[in-house]
Amino acid sequence: MPITYNATKRLWILETQNTGYAFGISGDGHIKHTYWGARITRTKDYPDLSEHQKNPWWDWNDEIPVRGEGHHTEECLKVRYKDQVRDVVLTCQNHKISGDYLVVTLVDEAYKLEVDLHYRVYPENDIMEKRVVIRNLSSNEIKIDSSFSGSFYLPENNDYRLTSLTGMWGHETRIQRETVHEGKRVFESRVGRTSHFMNPFFAVDERATEEHGNVWYGLLAWSGNWKMVIHKRIYETVQIVLGVNNWDFRYSLMPGEIFETPGVFFGFSQSGFGTMSRNLHRFQQEQLLPGTDAQKHRKVLYNSWEATNFGVNEENQKALADKAADIGAEIFVVDDGWFGERNNDTAGLGDWFVNRDKFPDGLKPLIEYVNRKGMDFGLWFEPEMVNKNSRLYEQHPEWVLQFPNRPKTEIRNQLILNLAKEEVREFVYETLDRFLTELNIKFIKWDMNRPILESGWGGEKHQEKMWYQYVMNLYAIWRELKRKHPGVILESCAGGGGRVDIGIMRYADQFWTSDNTDPFDRQFIQEGFSLCYAPKTMMSWVTDWGGKNGYPLTYRFHSAMMGSLGIGADLSEYSPDELEEARGCISRYKAIRDTIQNGRLYRLMSPGKTAFTANEFVAPDHNEVVVFCLKNPAPLSLFSVLRLKLRGLDEDGVYQDTETGKDFSGSYLMNRGIDLDFHQDWEIKVNRTRHFDSKIVVYKKIN
Ligand code: GLA
Repeated sequence: MPITYNATKRLWILETQNTGYAFGISGDGHIKHTYWGARITRTKDYPDLSEHQKNPWWDWNDEIPVRGEGHHTEECLKVRYKDQVRDVVLTCQNHKISGDYLVVTLVDEAYKLEVDLHYRVYPENDIMEKRVVIRNLSSNEIKIDSSFSGSFYLPENNDYRLTSLTGMWGHETRIQRETVHEGKRVFESRVGRTSHFMNPFFAVDERATEEHGNVWYGLLAWSGNWKMVIHKRIYETVQIVLGVNNWDFRYSLMPGEIFETPGVFFGFSQSGFGTMSRNLHRFQQEQLLPGTDAQKHRKVLYNSWEATNFGVNEENQKALADKAADIGAEIFVVDDGWFGERNNDTAGLGDWFVNRDKFPDGLKPLIEYVNRKGMDFGLWFEPEMVNKNSRLYEQHPEWVLQFPNRPKTEIRNQLILNLAKEEVREFVYETLDRFLTELNIKFIKWDMNRPILESGWGGEKHQEKMWYQYVMNLYAIWRELKRKHPGVILESCAGGGGRVDIGIMRYADQFWTSDNTDPFDRQFIQEGFSLCYAPKTMMSWVTDWGGKNGYPLTYRFHSAMMGSLGIGADLSEYSPDELEEARGCISRYKAIRDTIQNGRLYRLMSPGKTAFTANEFVAPDHNEVVVFCLKNPAPLSLFSVLRLKLRGLDEDGVYQDTETGKDFSGSYLMNRGIDLDFHQDWEIKVNRTRHFDSKIVVYKKIN
């Protein structure tokens, strides 16, 4: 049973295949956490609150710590009642278990505030979820100052390490590791989107490696302002609180209304970061990612942005479509520049009608041309934005987020529409729906190129709810588009990887990982991305970043082939030999993409630690193994033969190298390993200061 309630011990126990999580009711009706870690084989052994008496610091370990109840714990819930009472007192009323779901209901009796703690377990994926729903049953307004999704407590240990993903534009999802010291460490977004700077993810470990050691981890499903506090107090366990940011936040809960927090998806690994990532990937592949046949495999995409920029027109797009189809692309995407007076980034955003100077007969002739070439057609939108120089702004200046008597800051010459407004939500939905209904569009790249600054909502009494409502309306639009147009692939882009999270992943099929497509830089960005997010969701382009001759073309492909492959290079500049090389790589990718996109990832070598990036993908049925190895410049790398020990294979299975025909037992590949020869000839070494090389090895299981 994934969820049980032990009435004698007054304890709830949530279990997945390998993980246990428990909390109980104290004598005064409070819900206290007691356990999070490896699954305990005898359910009756899970610690209850009698042990709690012996460990006084546990007193603070509430499943939902509030501002009040006689302590100062970092709270999940803080409200103001009508009479200015700001002390919440919750007691448990009842609970309901239905299969993999549990709801525990608590009430603040004096003020008729009801709080439901929702739990869900995904036993096969080793993942659990919790979130909170707050209901105002009184006849007065209740102001919510903070409402986080959950609080976590780790077993006592003085030597925890925290892993987070931080970064900036062009260098998103960089792995950061630090000791958890006494005090508070805060990670957050205040920019209205998930942000390039920090990702809503934590992993706390006991000096774990890729393969060994305990890791507790969690991801917040939210694409707006979020906050995560890691708090370590002397004598006490580490507490982690995360959810919607309480900065510039207030939500007015009127009688009868409810407020729902986003969910936190969390797990525990006893075998290092590798298992953590594979659990998260599998959970995303199986539970979150929209699953029609169209989405089973991500198609190879070509996007003309870097080739034609704002200068798109029917003729140059058709010429690029010829080249893209010829090398094997399966989706052709027109990026920015096809609409309104959009000849550069100073005008046109908001005017979502086709520019007739560029496409005299609309987009239909181009789409039909692309379709005749055997490719799907995709289109770029940035629906949350407006340029001052646009018809939309002339018609609806009041739709823009702004404060009176204050400047409206423009970034990339654009302002932000207040998506929290109902009429803006309708406008955005109807625009996208119209295009998807009238034209044969199978892919949307949805961009959001700037952060929110002036968060004013003219005419609205409860202005601060904008931050929350904006994201809820965004989700509502994506949900409805997905429902009505299930075959369309939606990509979440935000001026690079600024909106990468599992909140939007419930509707999005993939992410624009970063604007930086330099194949060497990408190995660092991609490694961080892969800690949390499935390779299938990672759009990776081959471009000419780093200079056309800076990297071998096959190396550029190999770097991008470790995710969902796209090509963004200007193919009109490619020689017949280069096009042939690209064609070969794309055809190879198609042959192995099922294993890359739907398989299990083993990170064998980290670019941050060695001159190599090595990743192994094992097919879910174990029948295929794909190993990527990219060699980067490093001192003394002239005579390098790399021995790689593979992982995750069937020990007794027999695997055949598809290139040489040689076969090996799984135990040989995992214990002795394979040798990859990266010897360079002397001429290459002396003539090129930076030498990049790469290999793919593919094994088929033959026995
Ligand atoms: C953002 C995206 C790019 C491209 C441009 C178009 O910067 O990240 O990929 O779509 O917008 O203006």
